[in-house]
Amino acid sequence: MKNSKDVVVLVGSGSIGQAIARRVGAGDHIVLADLRQEAADSAAKILEDAGFEISTITVDISSRDSILKLIEHAQQFGQIKNLINAAGVSPSQAPVNAILKVDLYGTAVLIEEFGKVIADGGSGVIISSQSGHRLGTLSEEENYKLATSPTEELLNLDFIKAITDTLKAYQYSKRCNGLRVMYEATAWGKRGATINAISPGIIITPLANDELHGPRKDGYLKMIEASPAGRAGTPDEVGDLAAFLMSSHGRFINGADFLIDGGTTASYWFGDLQYLKATH
Ligand SMILES: NC(=O)c1ccc[n+]([C@@H]2O[C@H](COP(=O)([O-])OP(=O)(O)OC[C@H]3O[C@@H](n4cnc5c(N)ncnc54)[C@H](O)[C@@H]3O)[C@@H](O)[C@H]2O)c1
Repeated sequence: MKNSKDVVVLVGSGSIGQAIARRVGAGDHIVLADLRQEAADSAAKILEDAGFEISTITVDISSRDSILKLIEHAQQFGQIKNLINAAGVSPSQAPVNAILKVDLYGTAVLIEEFGKVIADGGSGVIISSQSGHRLGTLSEEENYKLATSPTEELLNLDFIKAITDTLKAYQYSKRCNGLRVMYEATAWGKRGATINAISPGIIITPLANDELHGPRKDGYLKMIEASPAGRAGTPDEVGDLAAFLMSSHGRFINGADFLIDGGTTASYWFGDLQYLKATH
């Protein structure tokens, strides 16, 4: 080992991930992993200039081999204390199969593989989405299968193979994130670690900006204005929640999924935003 520090692994080095890493990574070694090396490099420049110790690596979370190489890279520096997964693709960015491979399958594999190596006292946070809270109730069997199926079988589930719409693919993927976190909380708990999901509403980042300029932009703007908060969120607000979950104050929280959406989901089901049910 080079210097045996605690290691924070951030997958997906966009602004939500960076906000979390800044809050939990001081004094540790932070691994910035991203499909796009240039994204990891530009995040590295910002964080190094702010005093953090960084290394970067290219990873594709839809490949188990790539995830295993990431773990090997991280372990050179010490024990893995934190996993932050903020990698993902949105319904306006990618086709159905890419969304399912990255957001559903890849995230499940990431939780599984890091759950085998996470340090005692460690914790993980998976950035899911309010979208996962917009699916109607799934059957108990569908829920169980999404939560517990062996990762290599997830994309072959009948009701997953039947998805043809990118928004549905994203919603199922994000619902699956919360369920996998519940399922894996046992394994993480046995190692003295916790794993939780955070489901943000609209947070202003490049990904959200793609949505705000994509085919669903009118709906997005209207939804923001009519939401209880009346505004979009910021990466720093998500960072604060994640930092709490990963701190000593969050040790009793494991296998949970936290909405942070300014009340949008509450309004979608029971308030002013119920009109969206016809389109989402
Ligand atoms: N921004 C929002 O409003 C919002 C709302 C709810 C949920 N989210 C979720 O937050 C997460 C981060 O989003 P963001 O807004 O910071 O977006 P972003 O585009 O800034 O960051 C996502 C990063 O993931 C990387 N990535 C994509 N596919 C990958 C793969 N296969 N392997 C590794 N890295 C990959 C991208 O290169 C990018 O750097 C996503 O999972 C997204 O679904 C975002």
